[in-house]
Amino acid sequence: MEIAATIAEFRQARGRLGRLGFVPTMGFLHEGHLSLVRRAREECGAVAASIFVNPTQFGPSEDFSRYPRDMERDLALLRAAGCDLVFTPGVAEMYPPGSLTAVEVTTVTDTLEGAVRPGHFRGVATVVAKLFNIVQPSCAYFGQKDAQQCVVIRRMVRDLDMPLEVIVCPTVREVDGLAMSSRNVYLQPDERQAATALSRALDAAAALYKAGERDAGRLRQAMRDVLAAEPLAGIEYVSVADPELLSELETVSAGALLSLAVRLGRTRLIDNIPLPG
Ligand code: PAF
Repeated sequence: MEIAATIAEFRQARGRLGRLGFVPTMGFLHEGHLSLVRRAREECGAVAASIFVNPTQFGPSEDFSRYPRDMERDLALLRAAGCDLVFTPGVAEMYPPGSLTAVEVTTVTDTLEGAVRPGHFRGVATVVAKLFNIVQPSCAYFGQKDAQQCVVIRRMVRDLDMPLEVIVCPTVREVDGLAMSSRNVYLQPDERQAATALSRALDAAAALYKAGERDAGRLRQAMRDVLAAEPLAGIEYVSVADPELLSELETVSAGALLSLAVRLGRTRLIDNIPLPG
């Protein structure tokens, strides 16, 4: 596995590979990331990953400085998963002084995470566009866990005619249902136990849908009821939204996106389930 910390080094190594699958990450890898690497390997042959904690997608009061980092462990995991090439730039390499350009995807960034994290998706779209330009992948792999990020990136790729396919892979969960996330490491033991409320809330709403309920308000209430029963959980939002526009629905139809954001102590967690289409 080759490791490149500069754009020039990366481009040189990339030139020796043909069709390439790409897994962009902010490091502190877990099974969710590794499942993307393995899928990319199966589908594309060669795989590149990036490890870059992107400062522009964190708000001023968010966890950029304490975001977990462990480069040696990440590189060992990527090597074991069959990654061929890893891009590990520093902030100055990605954002040299004087950069004036950003990528802004509108409308689908107004709701959900976009509403509570102003500027977040501008940071995500900009860094992902830069990474796509550097890596030149045929396919890029993202986890369903960050559902709105997937919608935003698909839109950007479509609207800017980027020559690659965006592939969204299922959320990988712990045995008790908690969606894997690098931020789970922040959870205190009691918060870790309480965190199962997120997937339980989604499951409760999905079960109502399966039983025939089509009123989106009732599905939202079912999620709120499960979360309210967990004293440590502070609800930020619960949503039943159109899967492409991310606008709230009144009546649920196949493929609708159930999602939520919850605070447990100092940690903010998100999760979602797309209803069967
Ligand atoms: O999902 C992430 O880890 C990040 O948002 C991404 C896509 C690597 C951009 O920094």
